[in-house]
Amino acid sequence: MIWVPKAAEIAREAGARLKEFFIQGVETEYKGDVDVVTVADRTAEKLIRTRLTEAFPEHGIYGEEGTRERLDGEFRWYVDPLDGTTNFAHGFPQFCVSMGLEQRPAGLAPNEDGTLVAGVIFDPLRDELFVAEKGKGAFVNGKAMRVSKIAKLAESLLATGFPSRKRHASPNIHFYQEFTLRSHGVRRAGSAALDLAYVAAGRMEGFWEFNLNPWDTAAGILMVEEAEGSVTDFSGSPYRIESHEILASNGLIHDELVVLFQNLFAGRDLAPIPTPAEWAAQRESRA
Ligand code: IPD
Ligand code: CA
Ligand code: CA
Repeated sequence: MIWVPKAAEIAREAGARLKEFFIQGVETEYKGDVDVVTVADRTAEKLIRTRLTEAFPEHGIYGEEGTRERLDGEFRWYVDPLDGTTNFAHGFPQFCVSMGLEQRPAGLAPNEDGTLVAGVIFDPLRDELFVAEKGKGAFVNGKAMRVSKIAKLAESLLATGFPSRKRHASPNIHFYQEFTLRSHGVRRAGSAALDLAYVAAGRMEGFWEFNLNPWDTAAGILMVEEAEGSVTDFSGSPYRIESHEILASNGLIHDELVVLFQNLFAGRDLAPIPTPAEWAAQRESRA
């Protein structure tokens, strides 16, 4: 299939543009109270839309910055032209281009998921290209990726993220605390697509987030699966685009993560938070 090589070429071109903008610096605009966008997001999406349409005129495109084209066809690209915009706008060097291809057989209802068949994530600052194709494996700069072999949550490095829209409605800060206490730590690096690529590459054992969109996850999900990891919702049921919640891991710690999610949702197993008086007493006793 030429999907992956062509998408990789397009992601590299878009990534090169992002890098130029990053070096030169761009102005930040607001989509919501803390939800930012820049000229780089829009320019990269336009470039990707143009190139994908030239290469695959029949394919649909669903992009974060508003592209909605040919969504009734058999193939659909989910495009995040710049995943990690907040980082980008602050000059924090962690962002990427993410493009995932879904195959949707004729007759599939609009709310049913098709099959992810190709994914490309490009980090232009590290010049790292992550690719995956259904049944053919996942690769970083040409080298096969495998999830890590760590089998215990207590020995794992995890990642998560927080929404920039309606963030008061997200319960994730509680999960962040509990997972931090039970693992080697939880990174919040600011690019969900790179978080997933890193799980696939064995650099981290797990990743979860509430309320992501298909442009954030489509490519990365296929990467984790092709690198022999697991991707589900928080209850361990098969991941669906509509579920919006994602739990990805190396597979070995997946059951532990799911049980902990169940307990935390039920209010069990929570680490006690000291009262101000208890905290002051602890501080005194350490002094
Ligand atoms: C965001 C990043 C971030 C995640 C947010 C996403 P954007 O995407 O992936 O890591 O925590 O939920 O919205 O807005 O930079 O494309
Ligand atoms: Ca994103
Ligand atoms: Ca984006």
